[in-house]
Amino acid sequence: MRKKIVAGNWKMNLNFEEGVSLFSEIVNMVKDEVVGDQEVIVCTPFIHLSTVAKMSENVKNVNIGSQNVHQAESGAYTGEVSASQVKSVGVEYVILGHSERRAYFGETDALLAEKTNVTLKHGLKPIFCIGETKEERESGKFFDVIKNQLVNGVFHLSKEDFAKVVLAYEPVWAIGTGLTASPEQAQEVHAFIRETIANQYDAETADNTTILYGGSCNPSNAPTLFSQKDIDGGLIGGASLKSRDFLDIVKVFNA
Ligand code: 13P
Repeated sequence: MRKKIVAGNWKMNLNFEEGVSLFSEIVNMVKDEVVGDQEVIVCTPFIHLSTVAKMSENVKNVNIGSQNVHQAESGAYTGEVSASQVKSVGVEYVILGHSERRAYFGETDALLAEKTNVTLKHGLKPIFCIGETKEERESGKFFDVIKNQLVNGVFHLSKEDFAKVVLAYEPVWAIGTGLTASPEQAQEVHAFIRETIANQYDAETADNTTILYGGSCNPSNAPTLFSQKDIDGGLIGGASLKSRDFLDIVKVFNA
């Protein structure tokens, strides 16, 4: 059975103290309220990683992710952070290919393939994001766009390495806009992604891949989204900054 995951992406929000306080609330709520084996991943800015990783050490099913790493091992890359550095403070996951990084930092599929390699090399698991823009959806080309992102970003991996990847379908038009994809729209794409994985690898690999939905996900729409056959959880932006909302989304998998 593939893993159910709810991951929070704090993006560039919260100072150190605010982040530690939010994380502490999340941990307490997880301990008190979570009864299933869903995994909770919190992807914080770099400044919080070391502290929150320590705070989560003995908390079942809570793990930490960074929101990026550089593609090189180390060296003269002022302002960047490497995979081995985040690994050394207890990080387990790395968000890669987020549409904000593709759009604002020029991250291409080829660069993301390199980042995926260095992430896996250091024993970290990528949360690899894919998704179409509004224009690509309206022109009907979105299946091609998503397939290309998979082919060029992660399909060079061996089956063994691909098994460590979590995918996140985040339609760009749904991120931070309040315009959630309908459960049917999201399910249609998730089923397509799973079928594409089956064609590239095999049915078992496809069946075992966790595919998250992201884009204006909140406590009201999460239950219907997560009940879709091919949706295995969510990558949550805005709602992950409020402990109550985030936990209510996590608890969709309590039942
Ligand atoms: P929102 O939940 O704020 O739409 O953000 C989604 C996202 O980009 C998560 O990575």
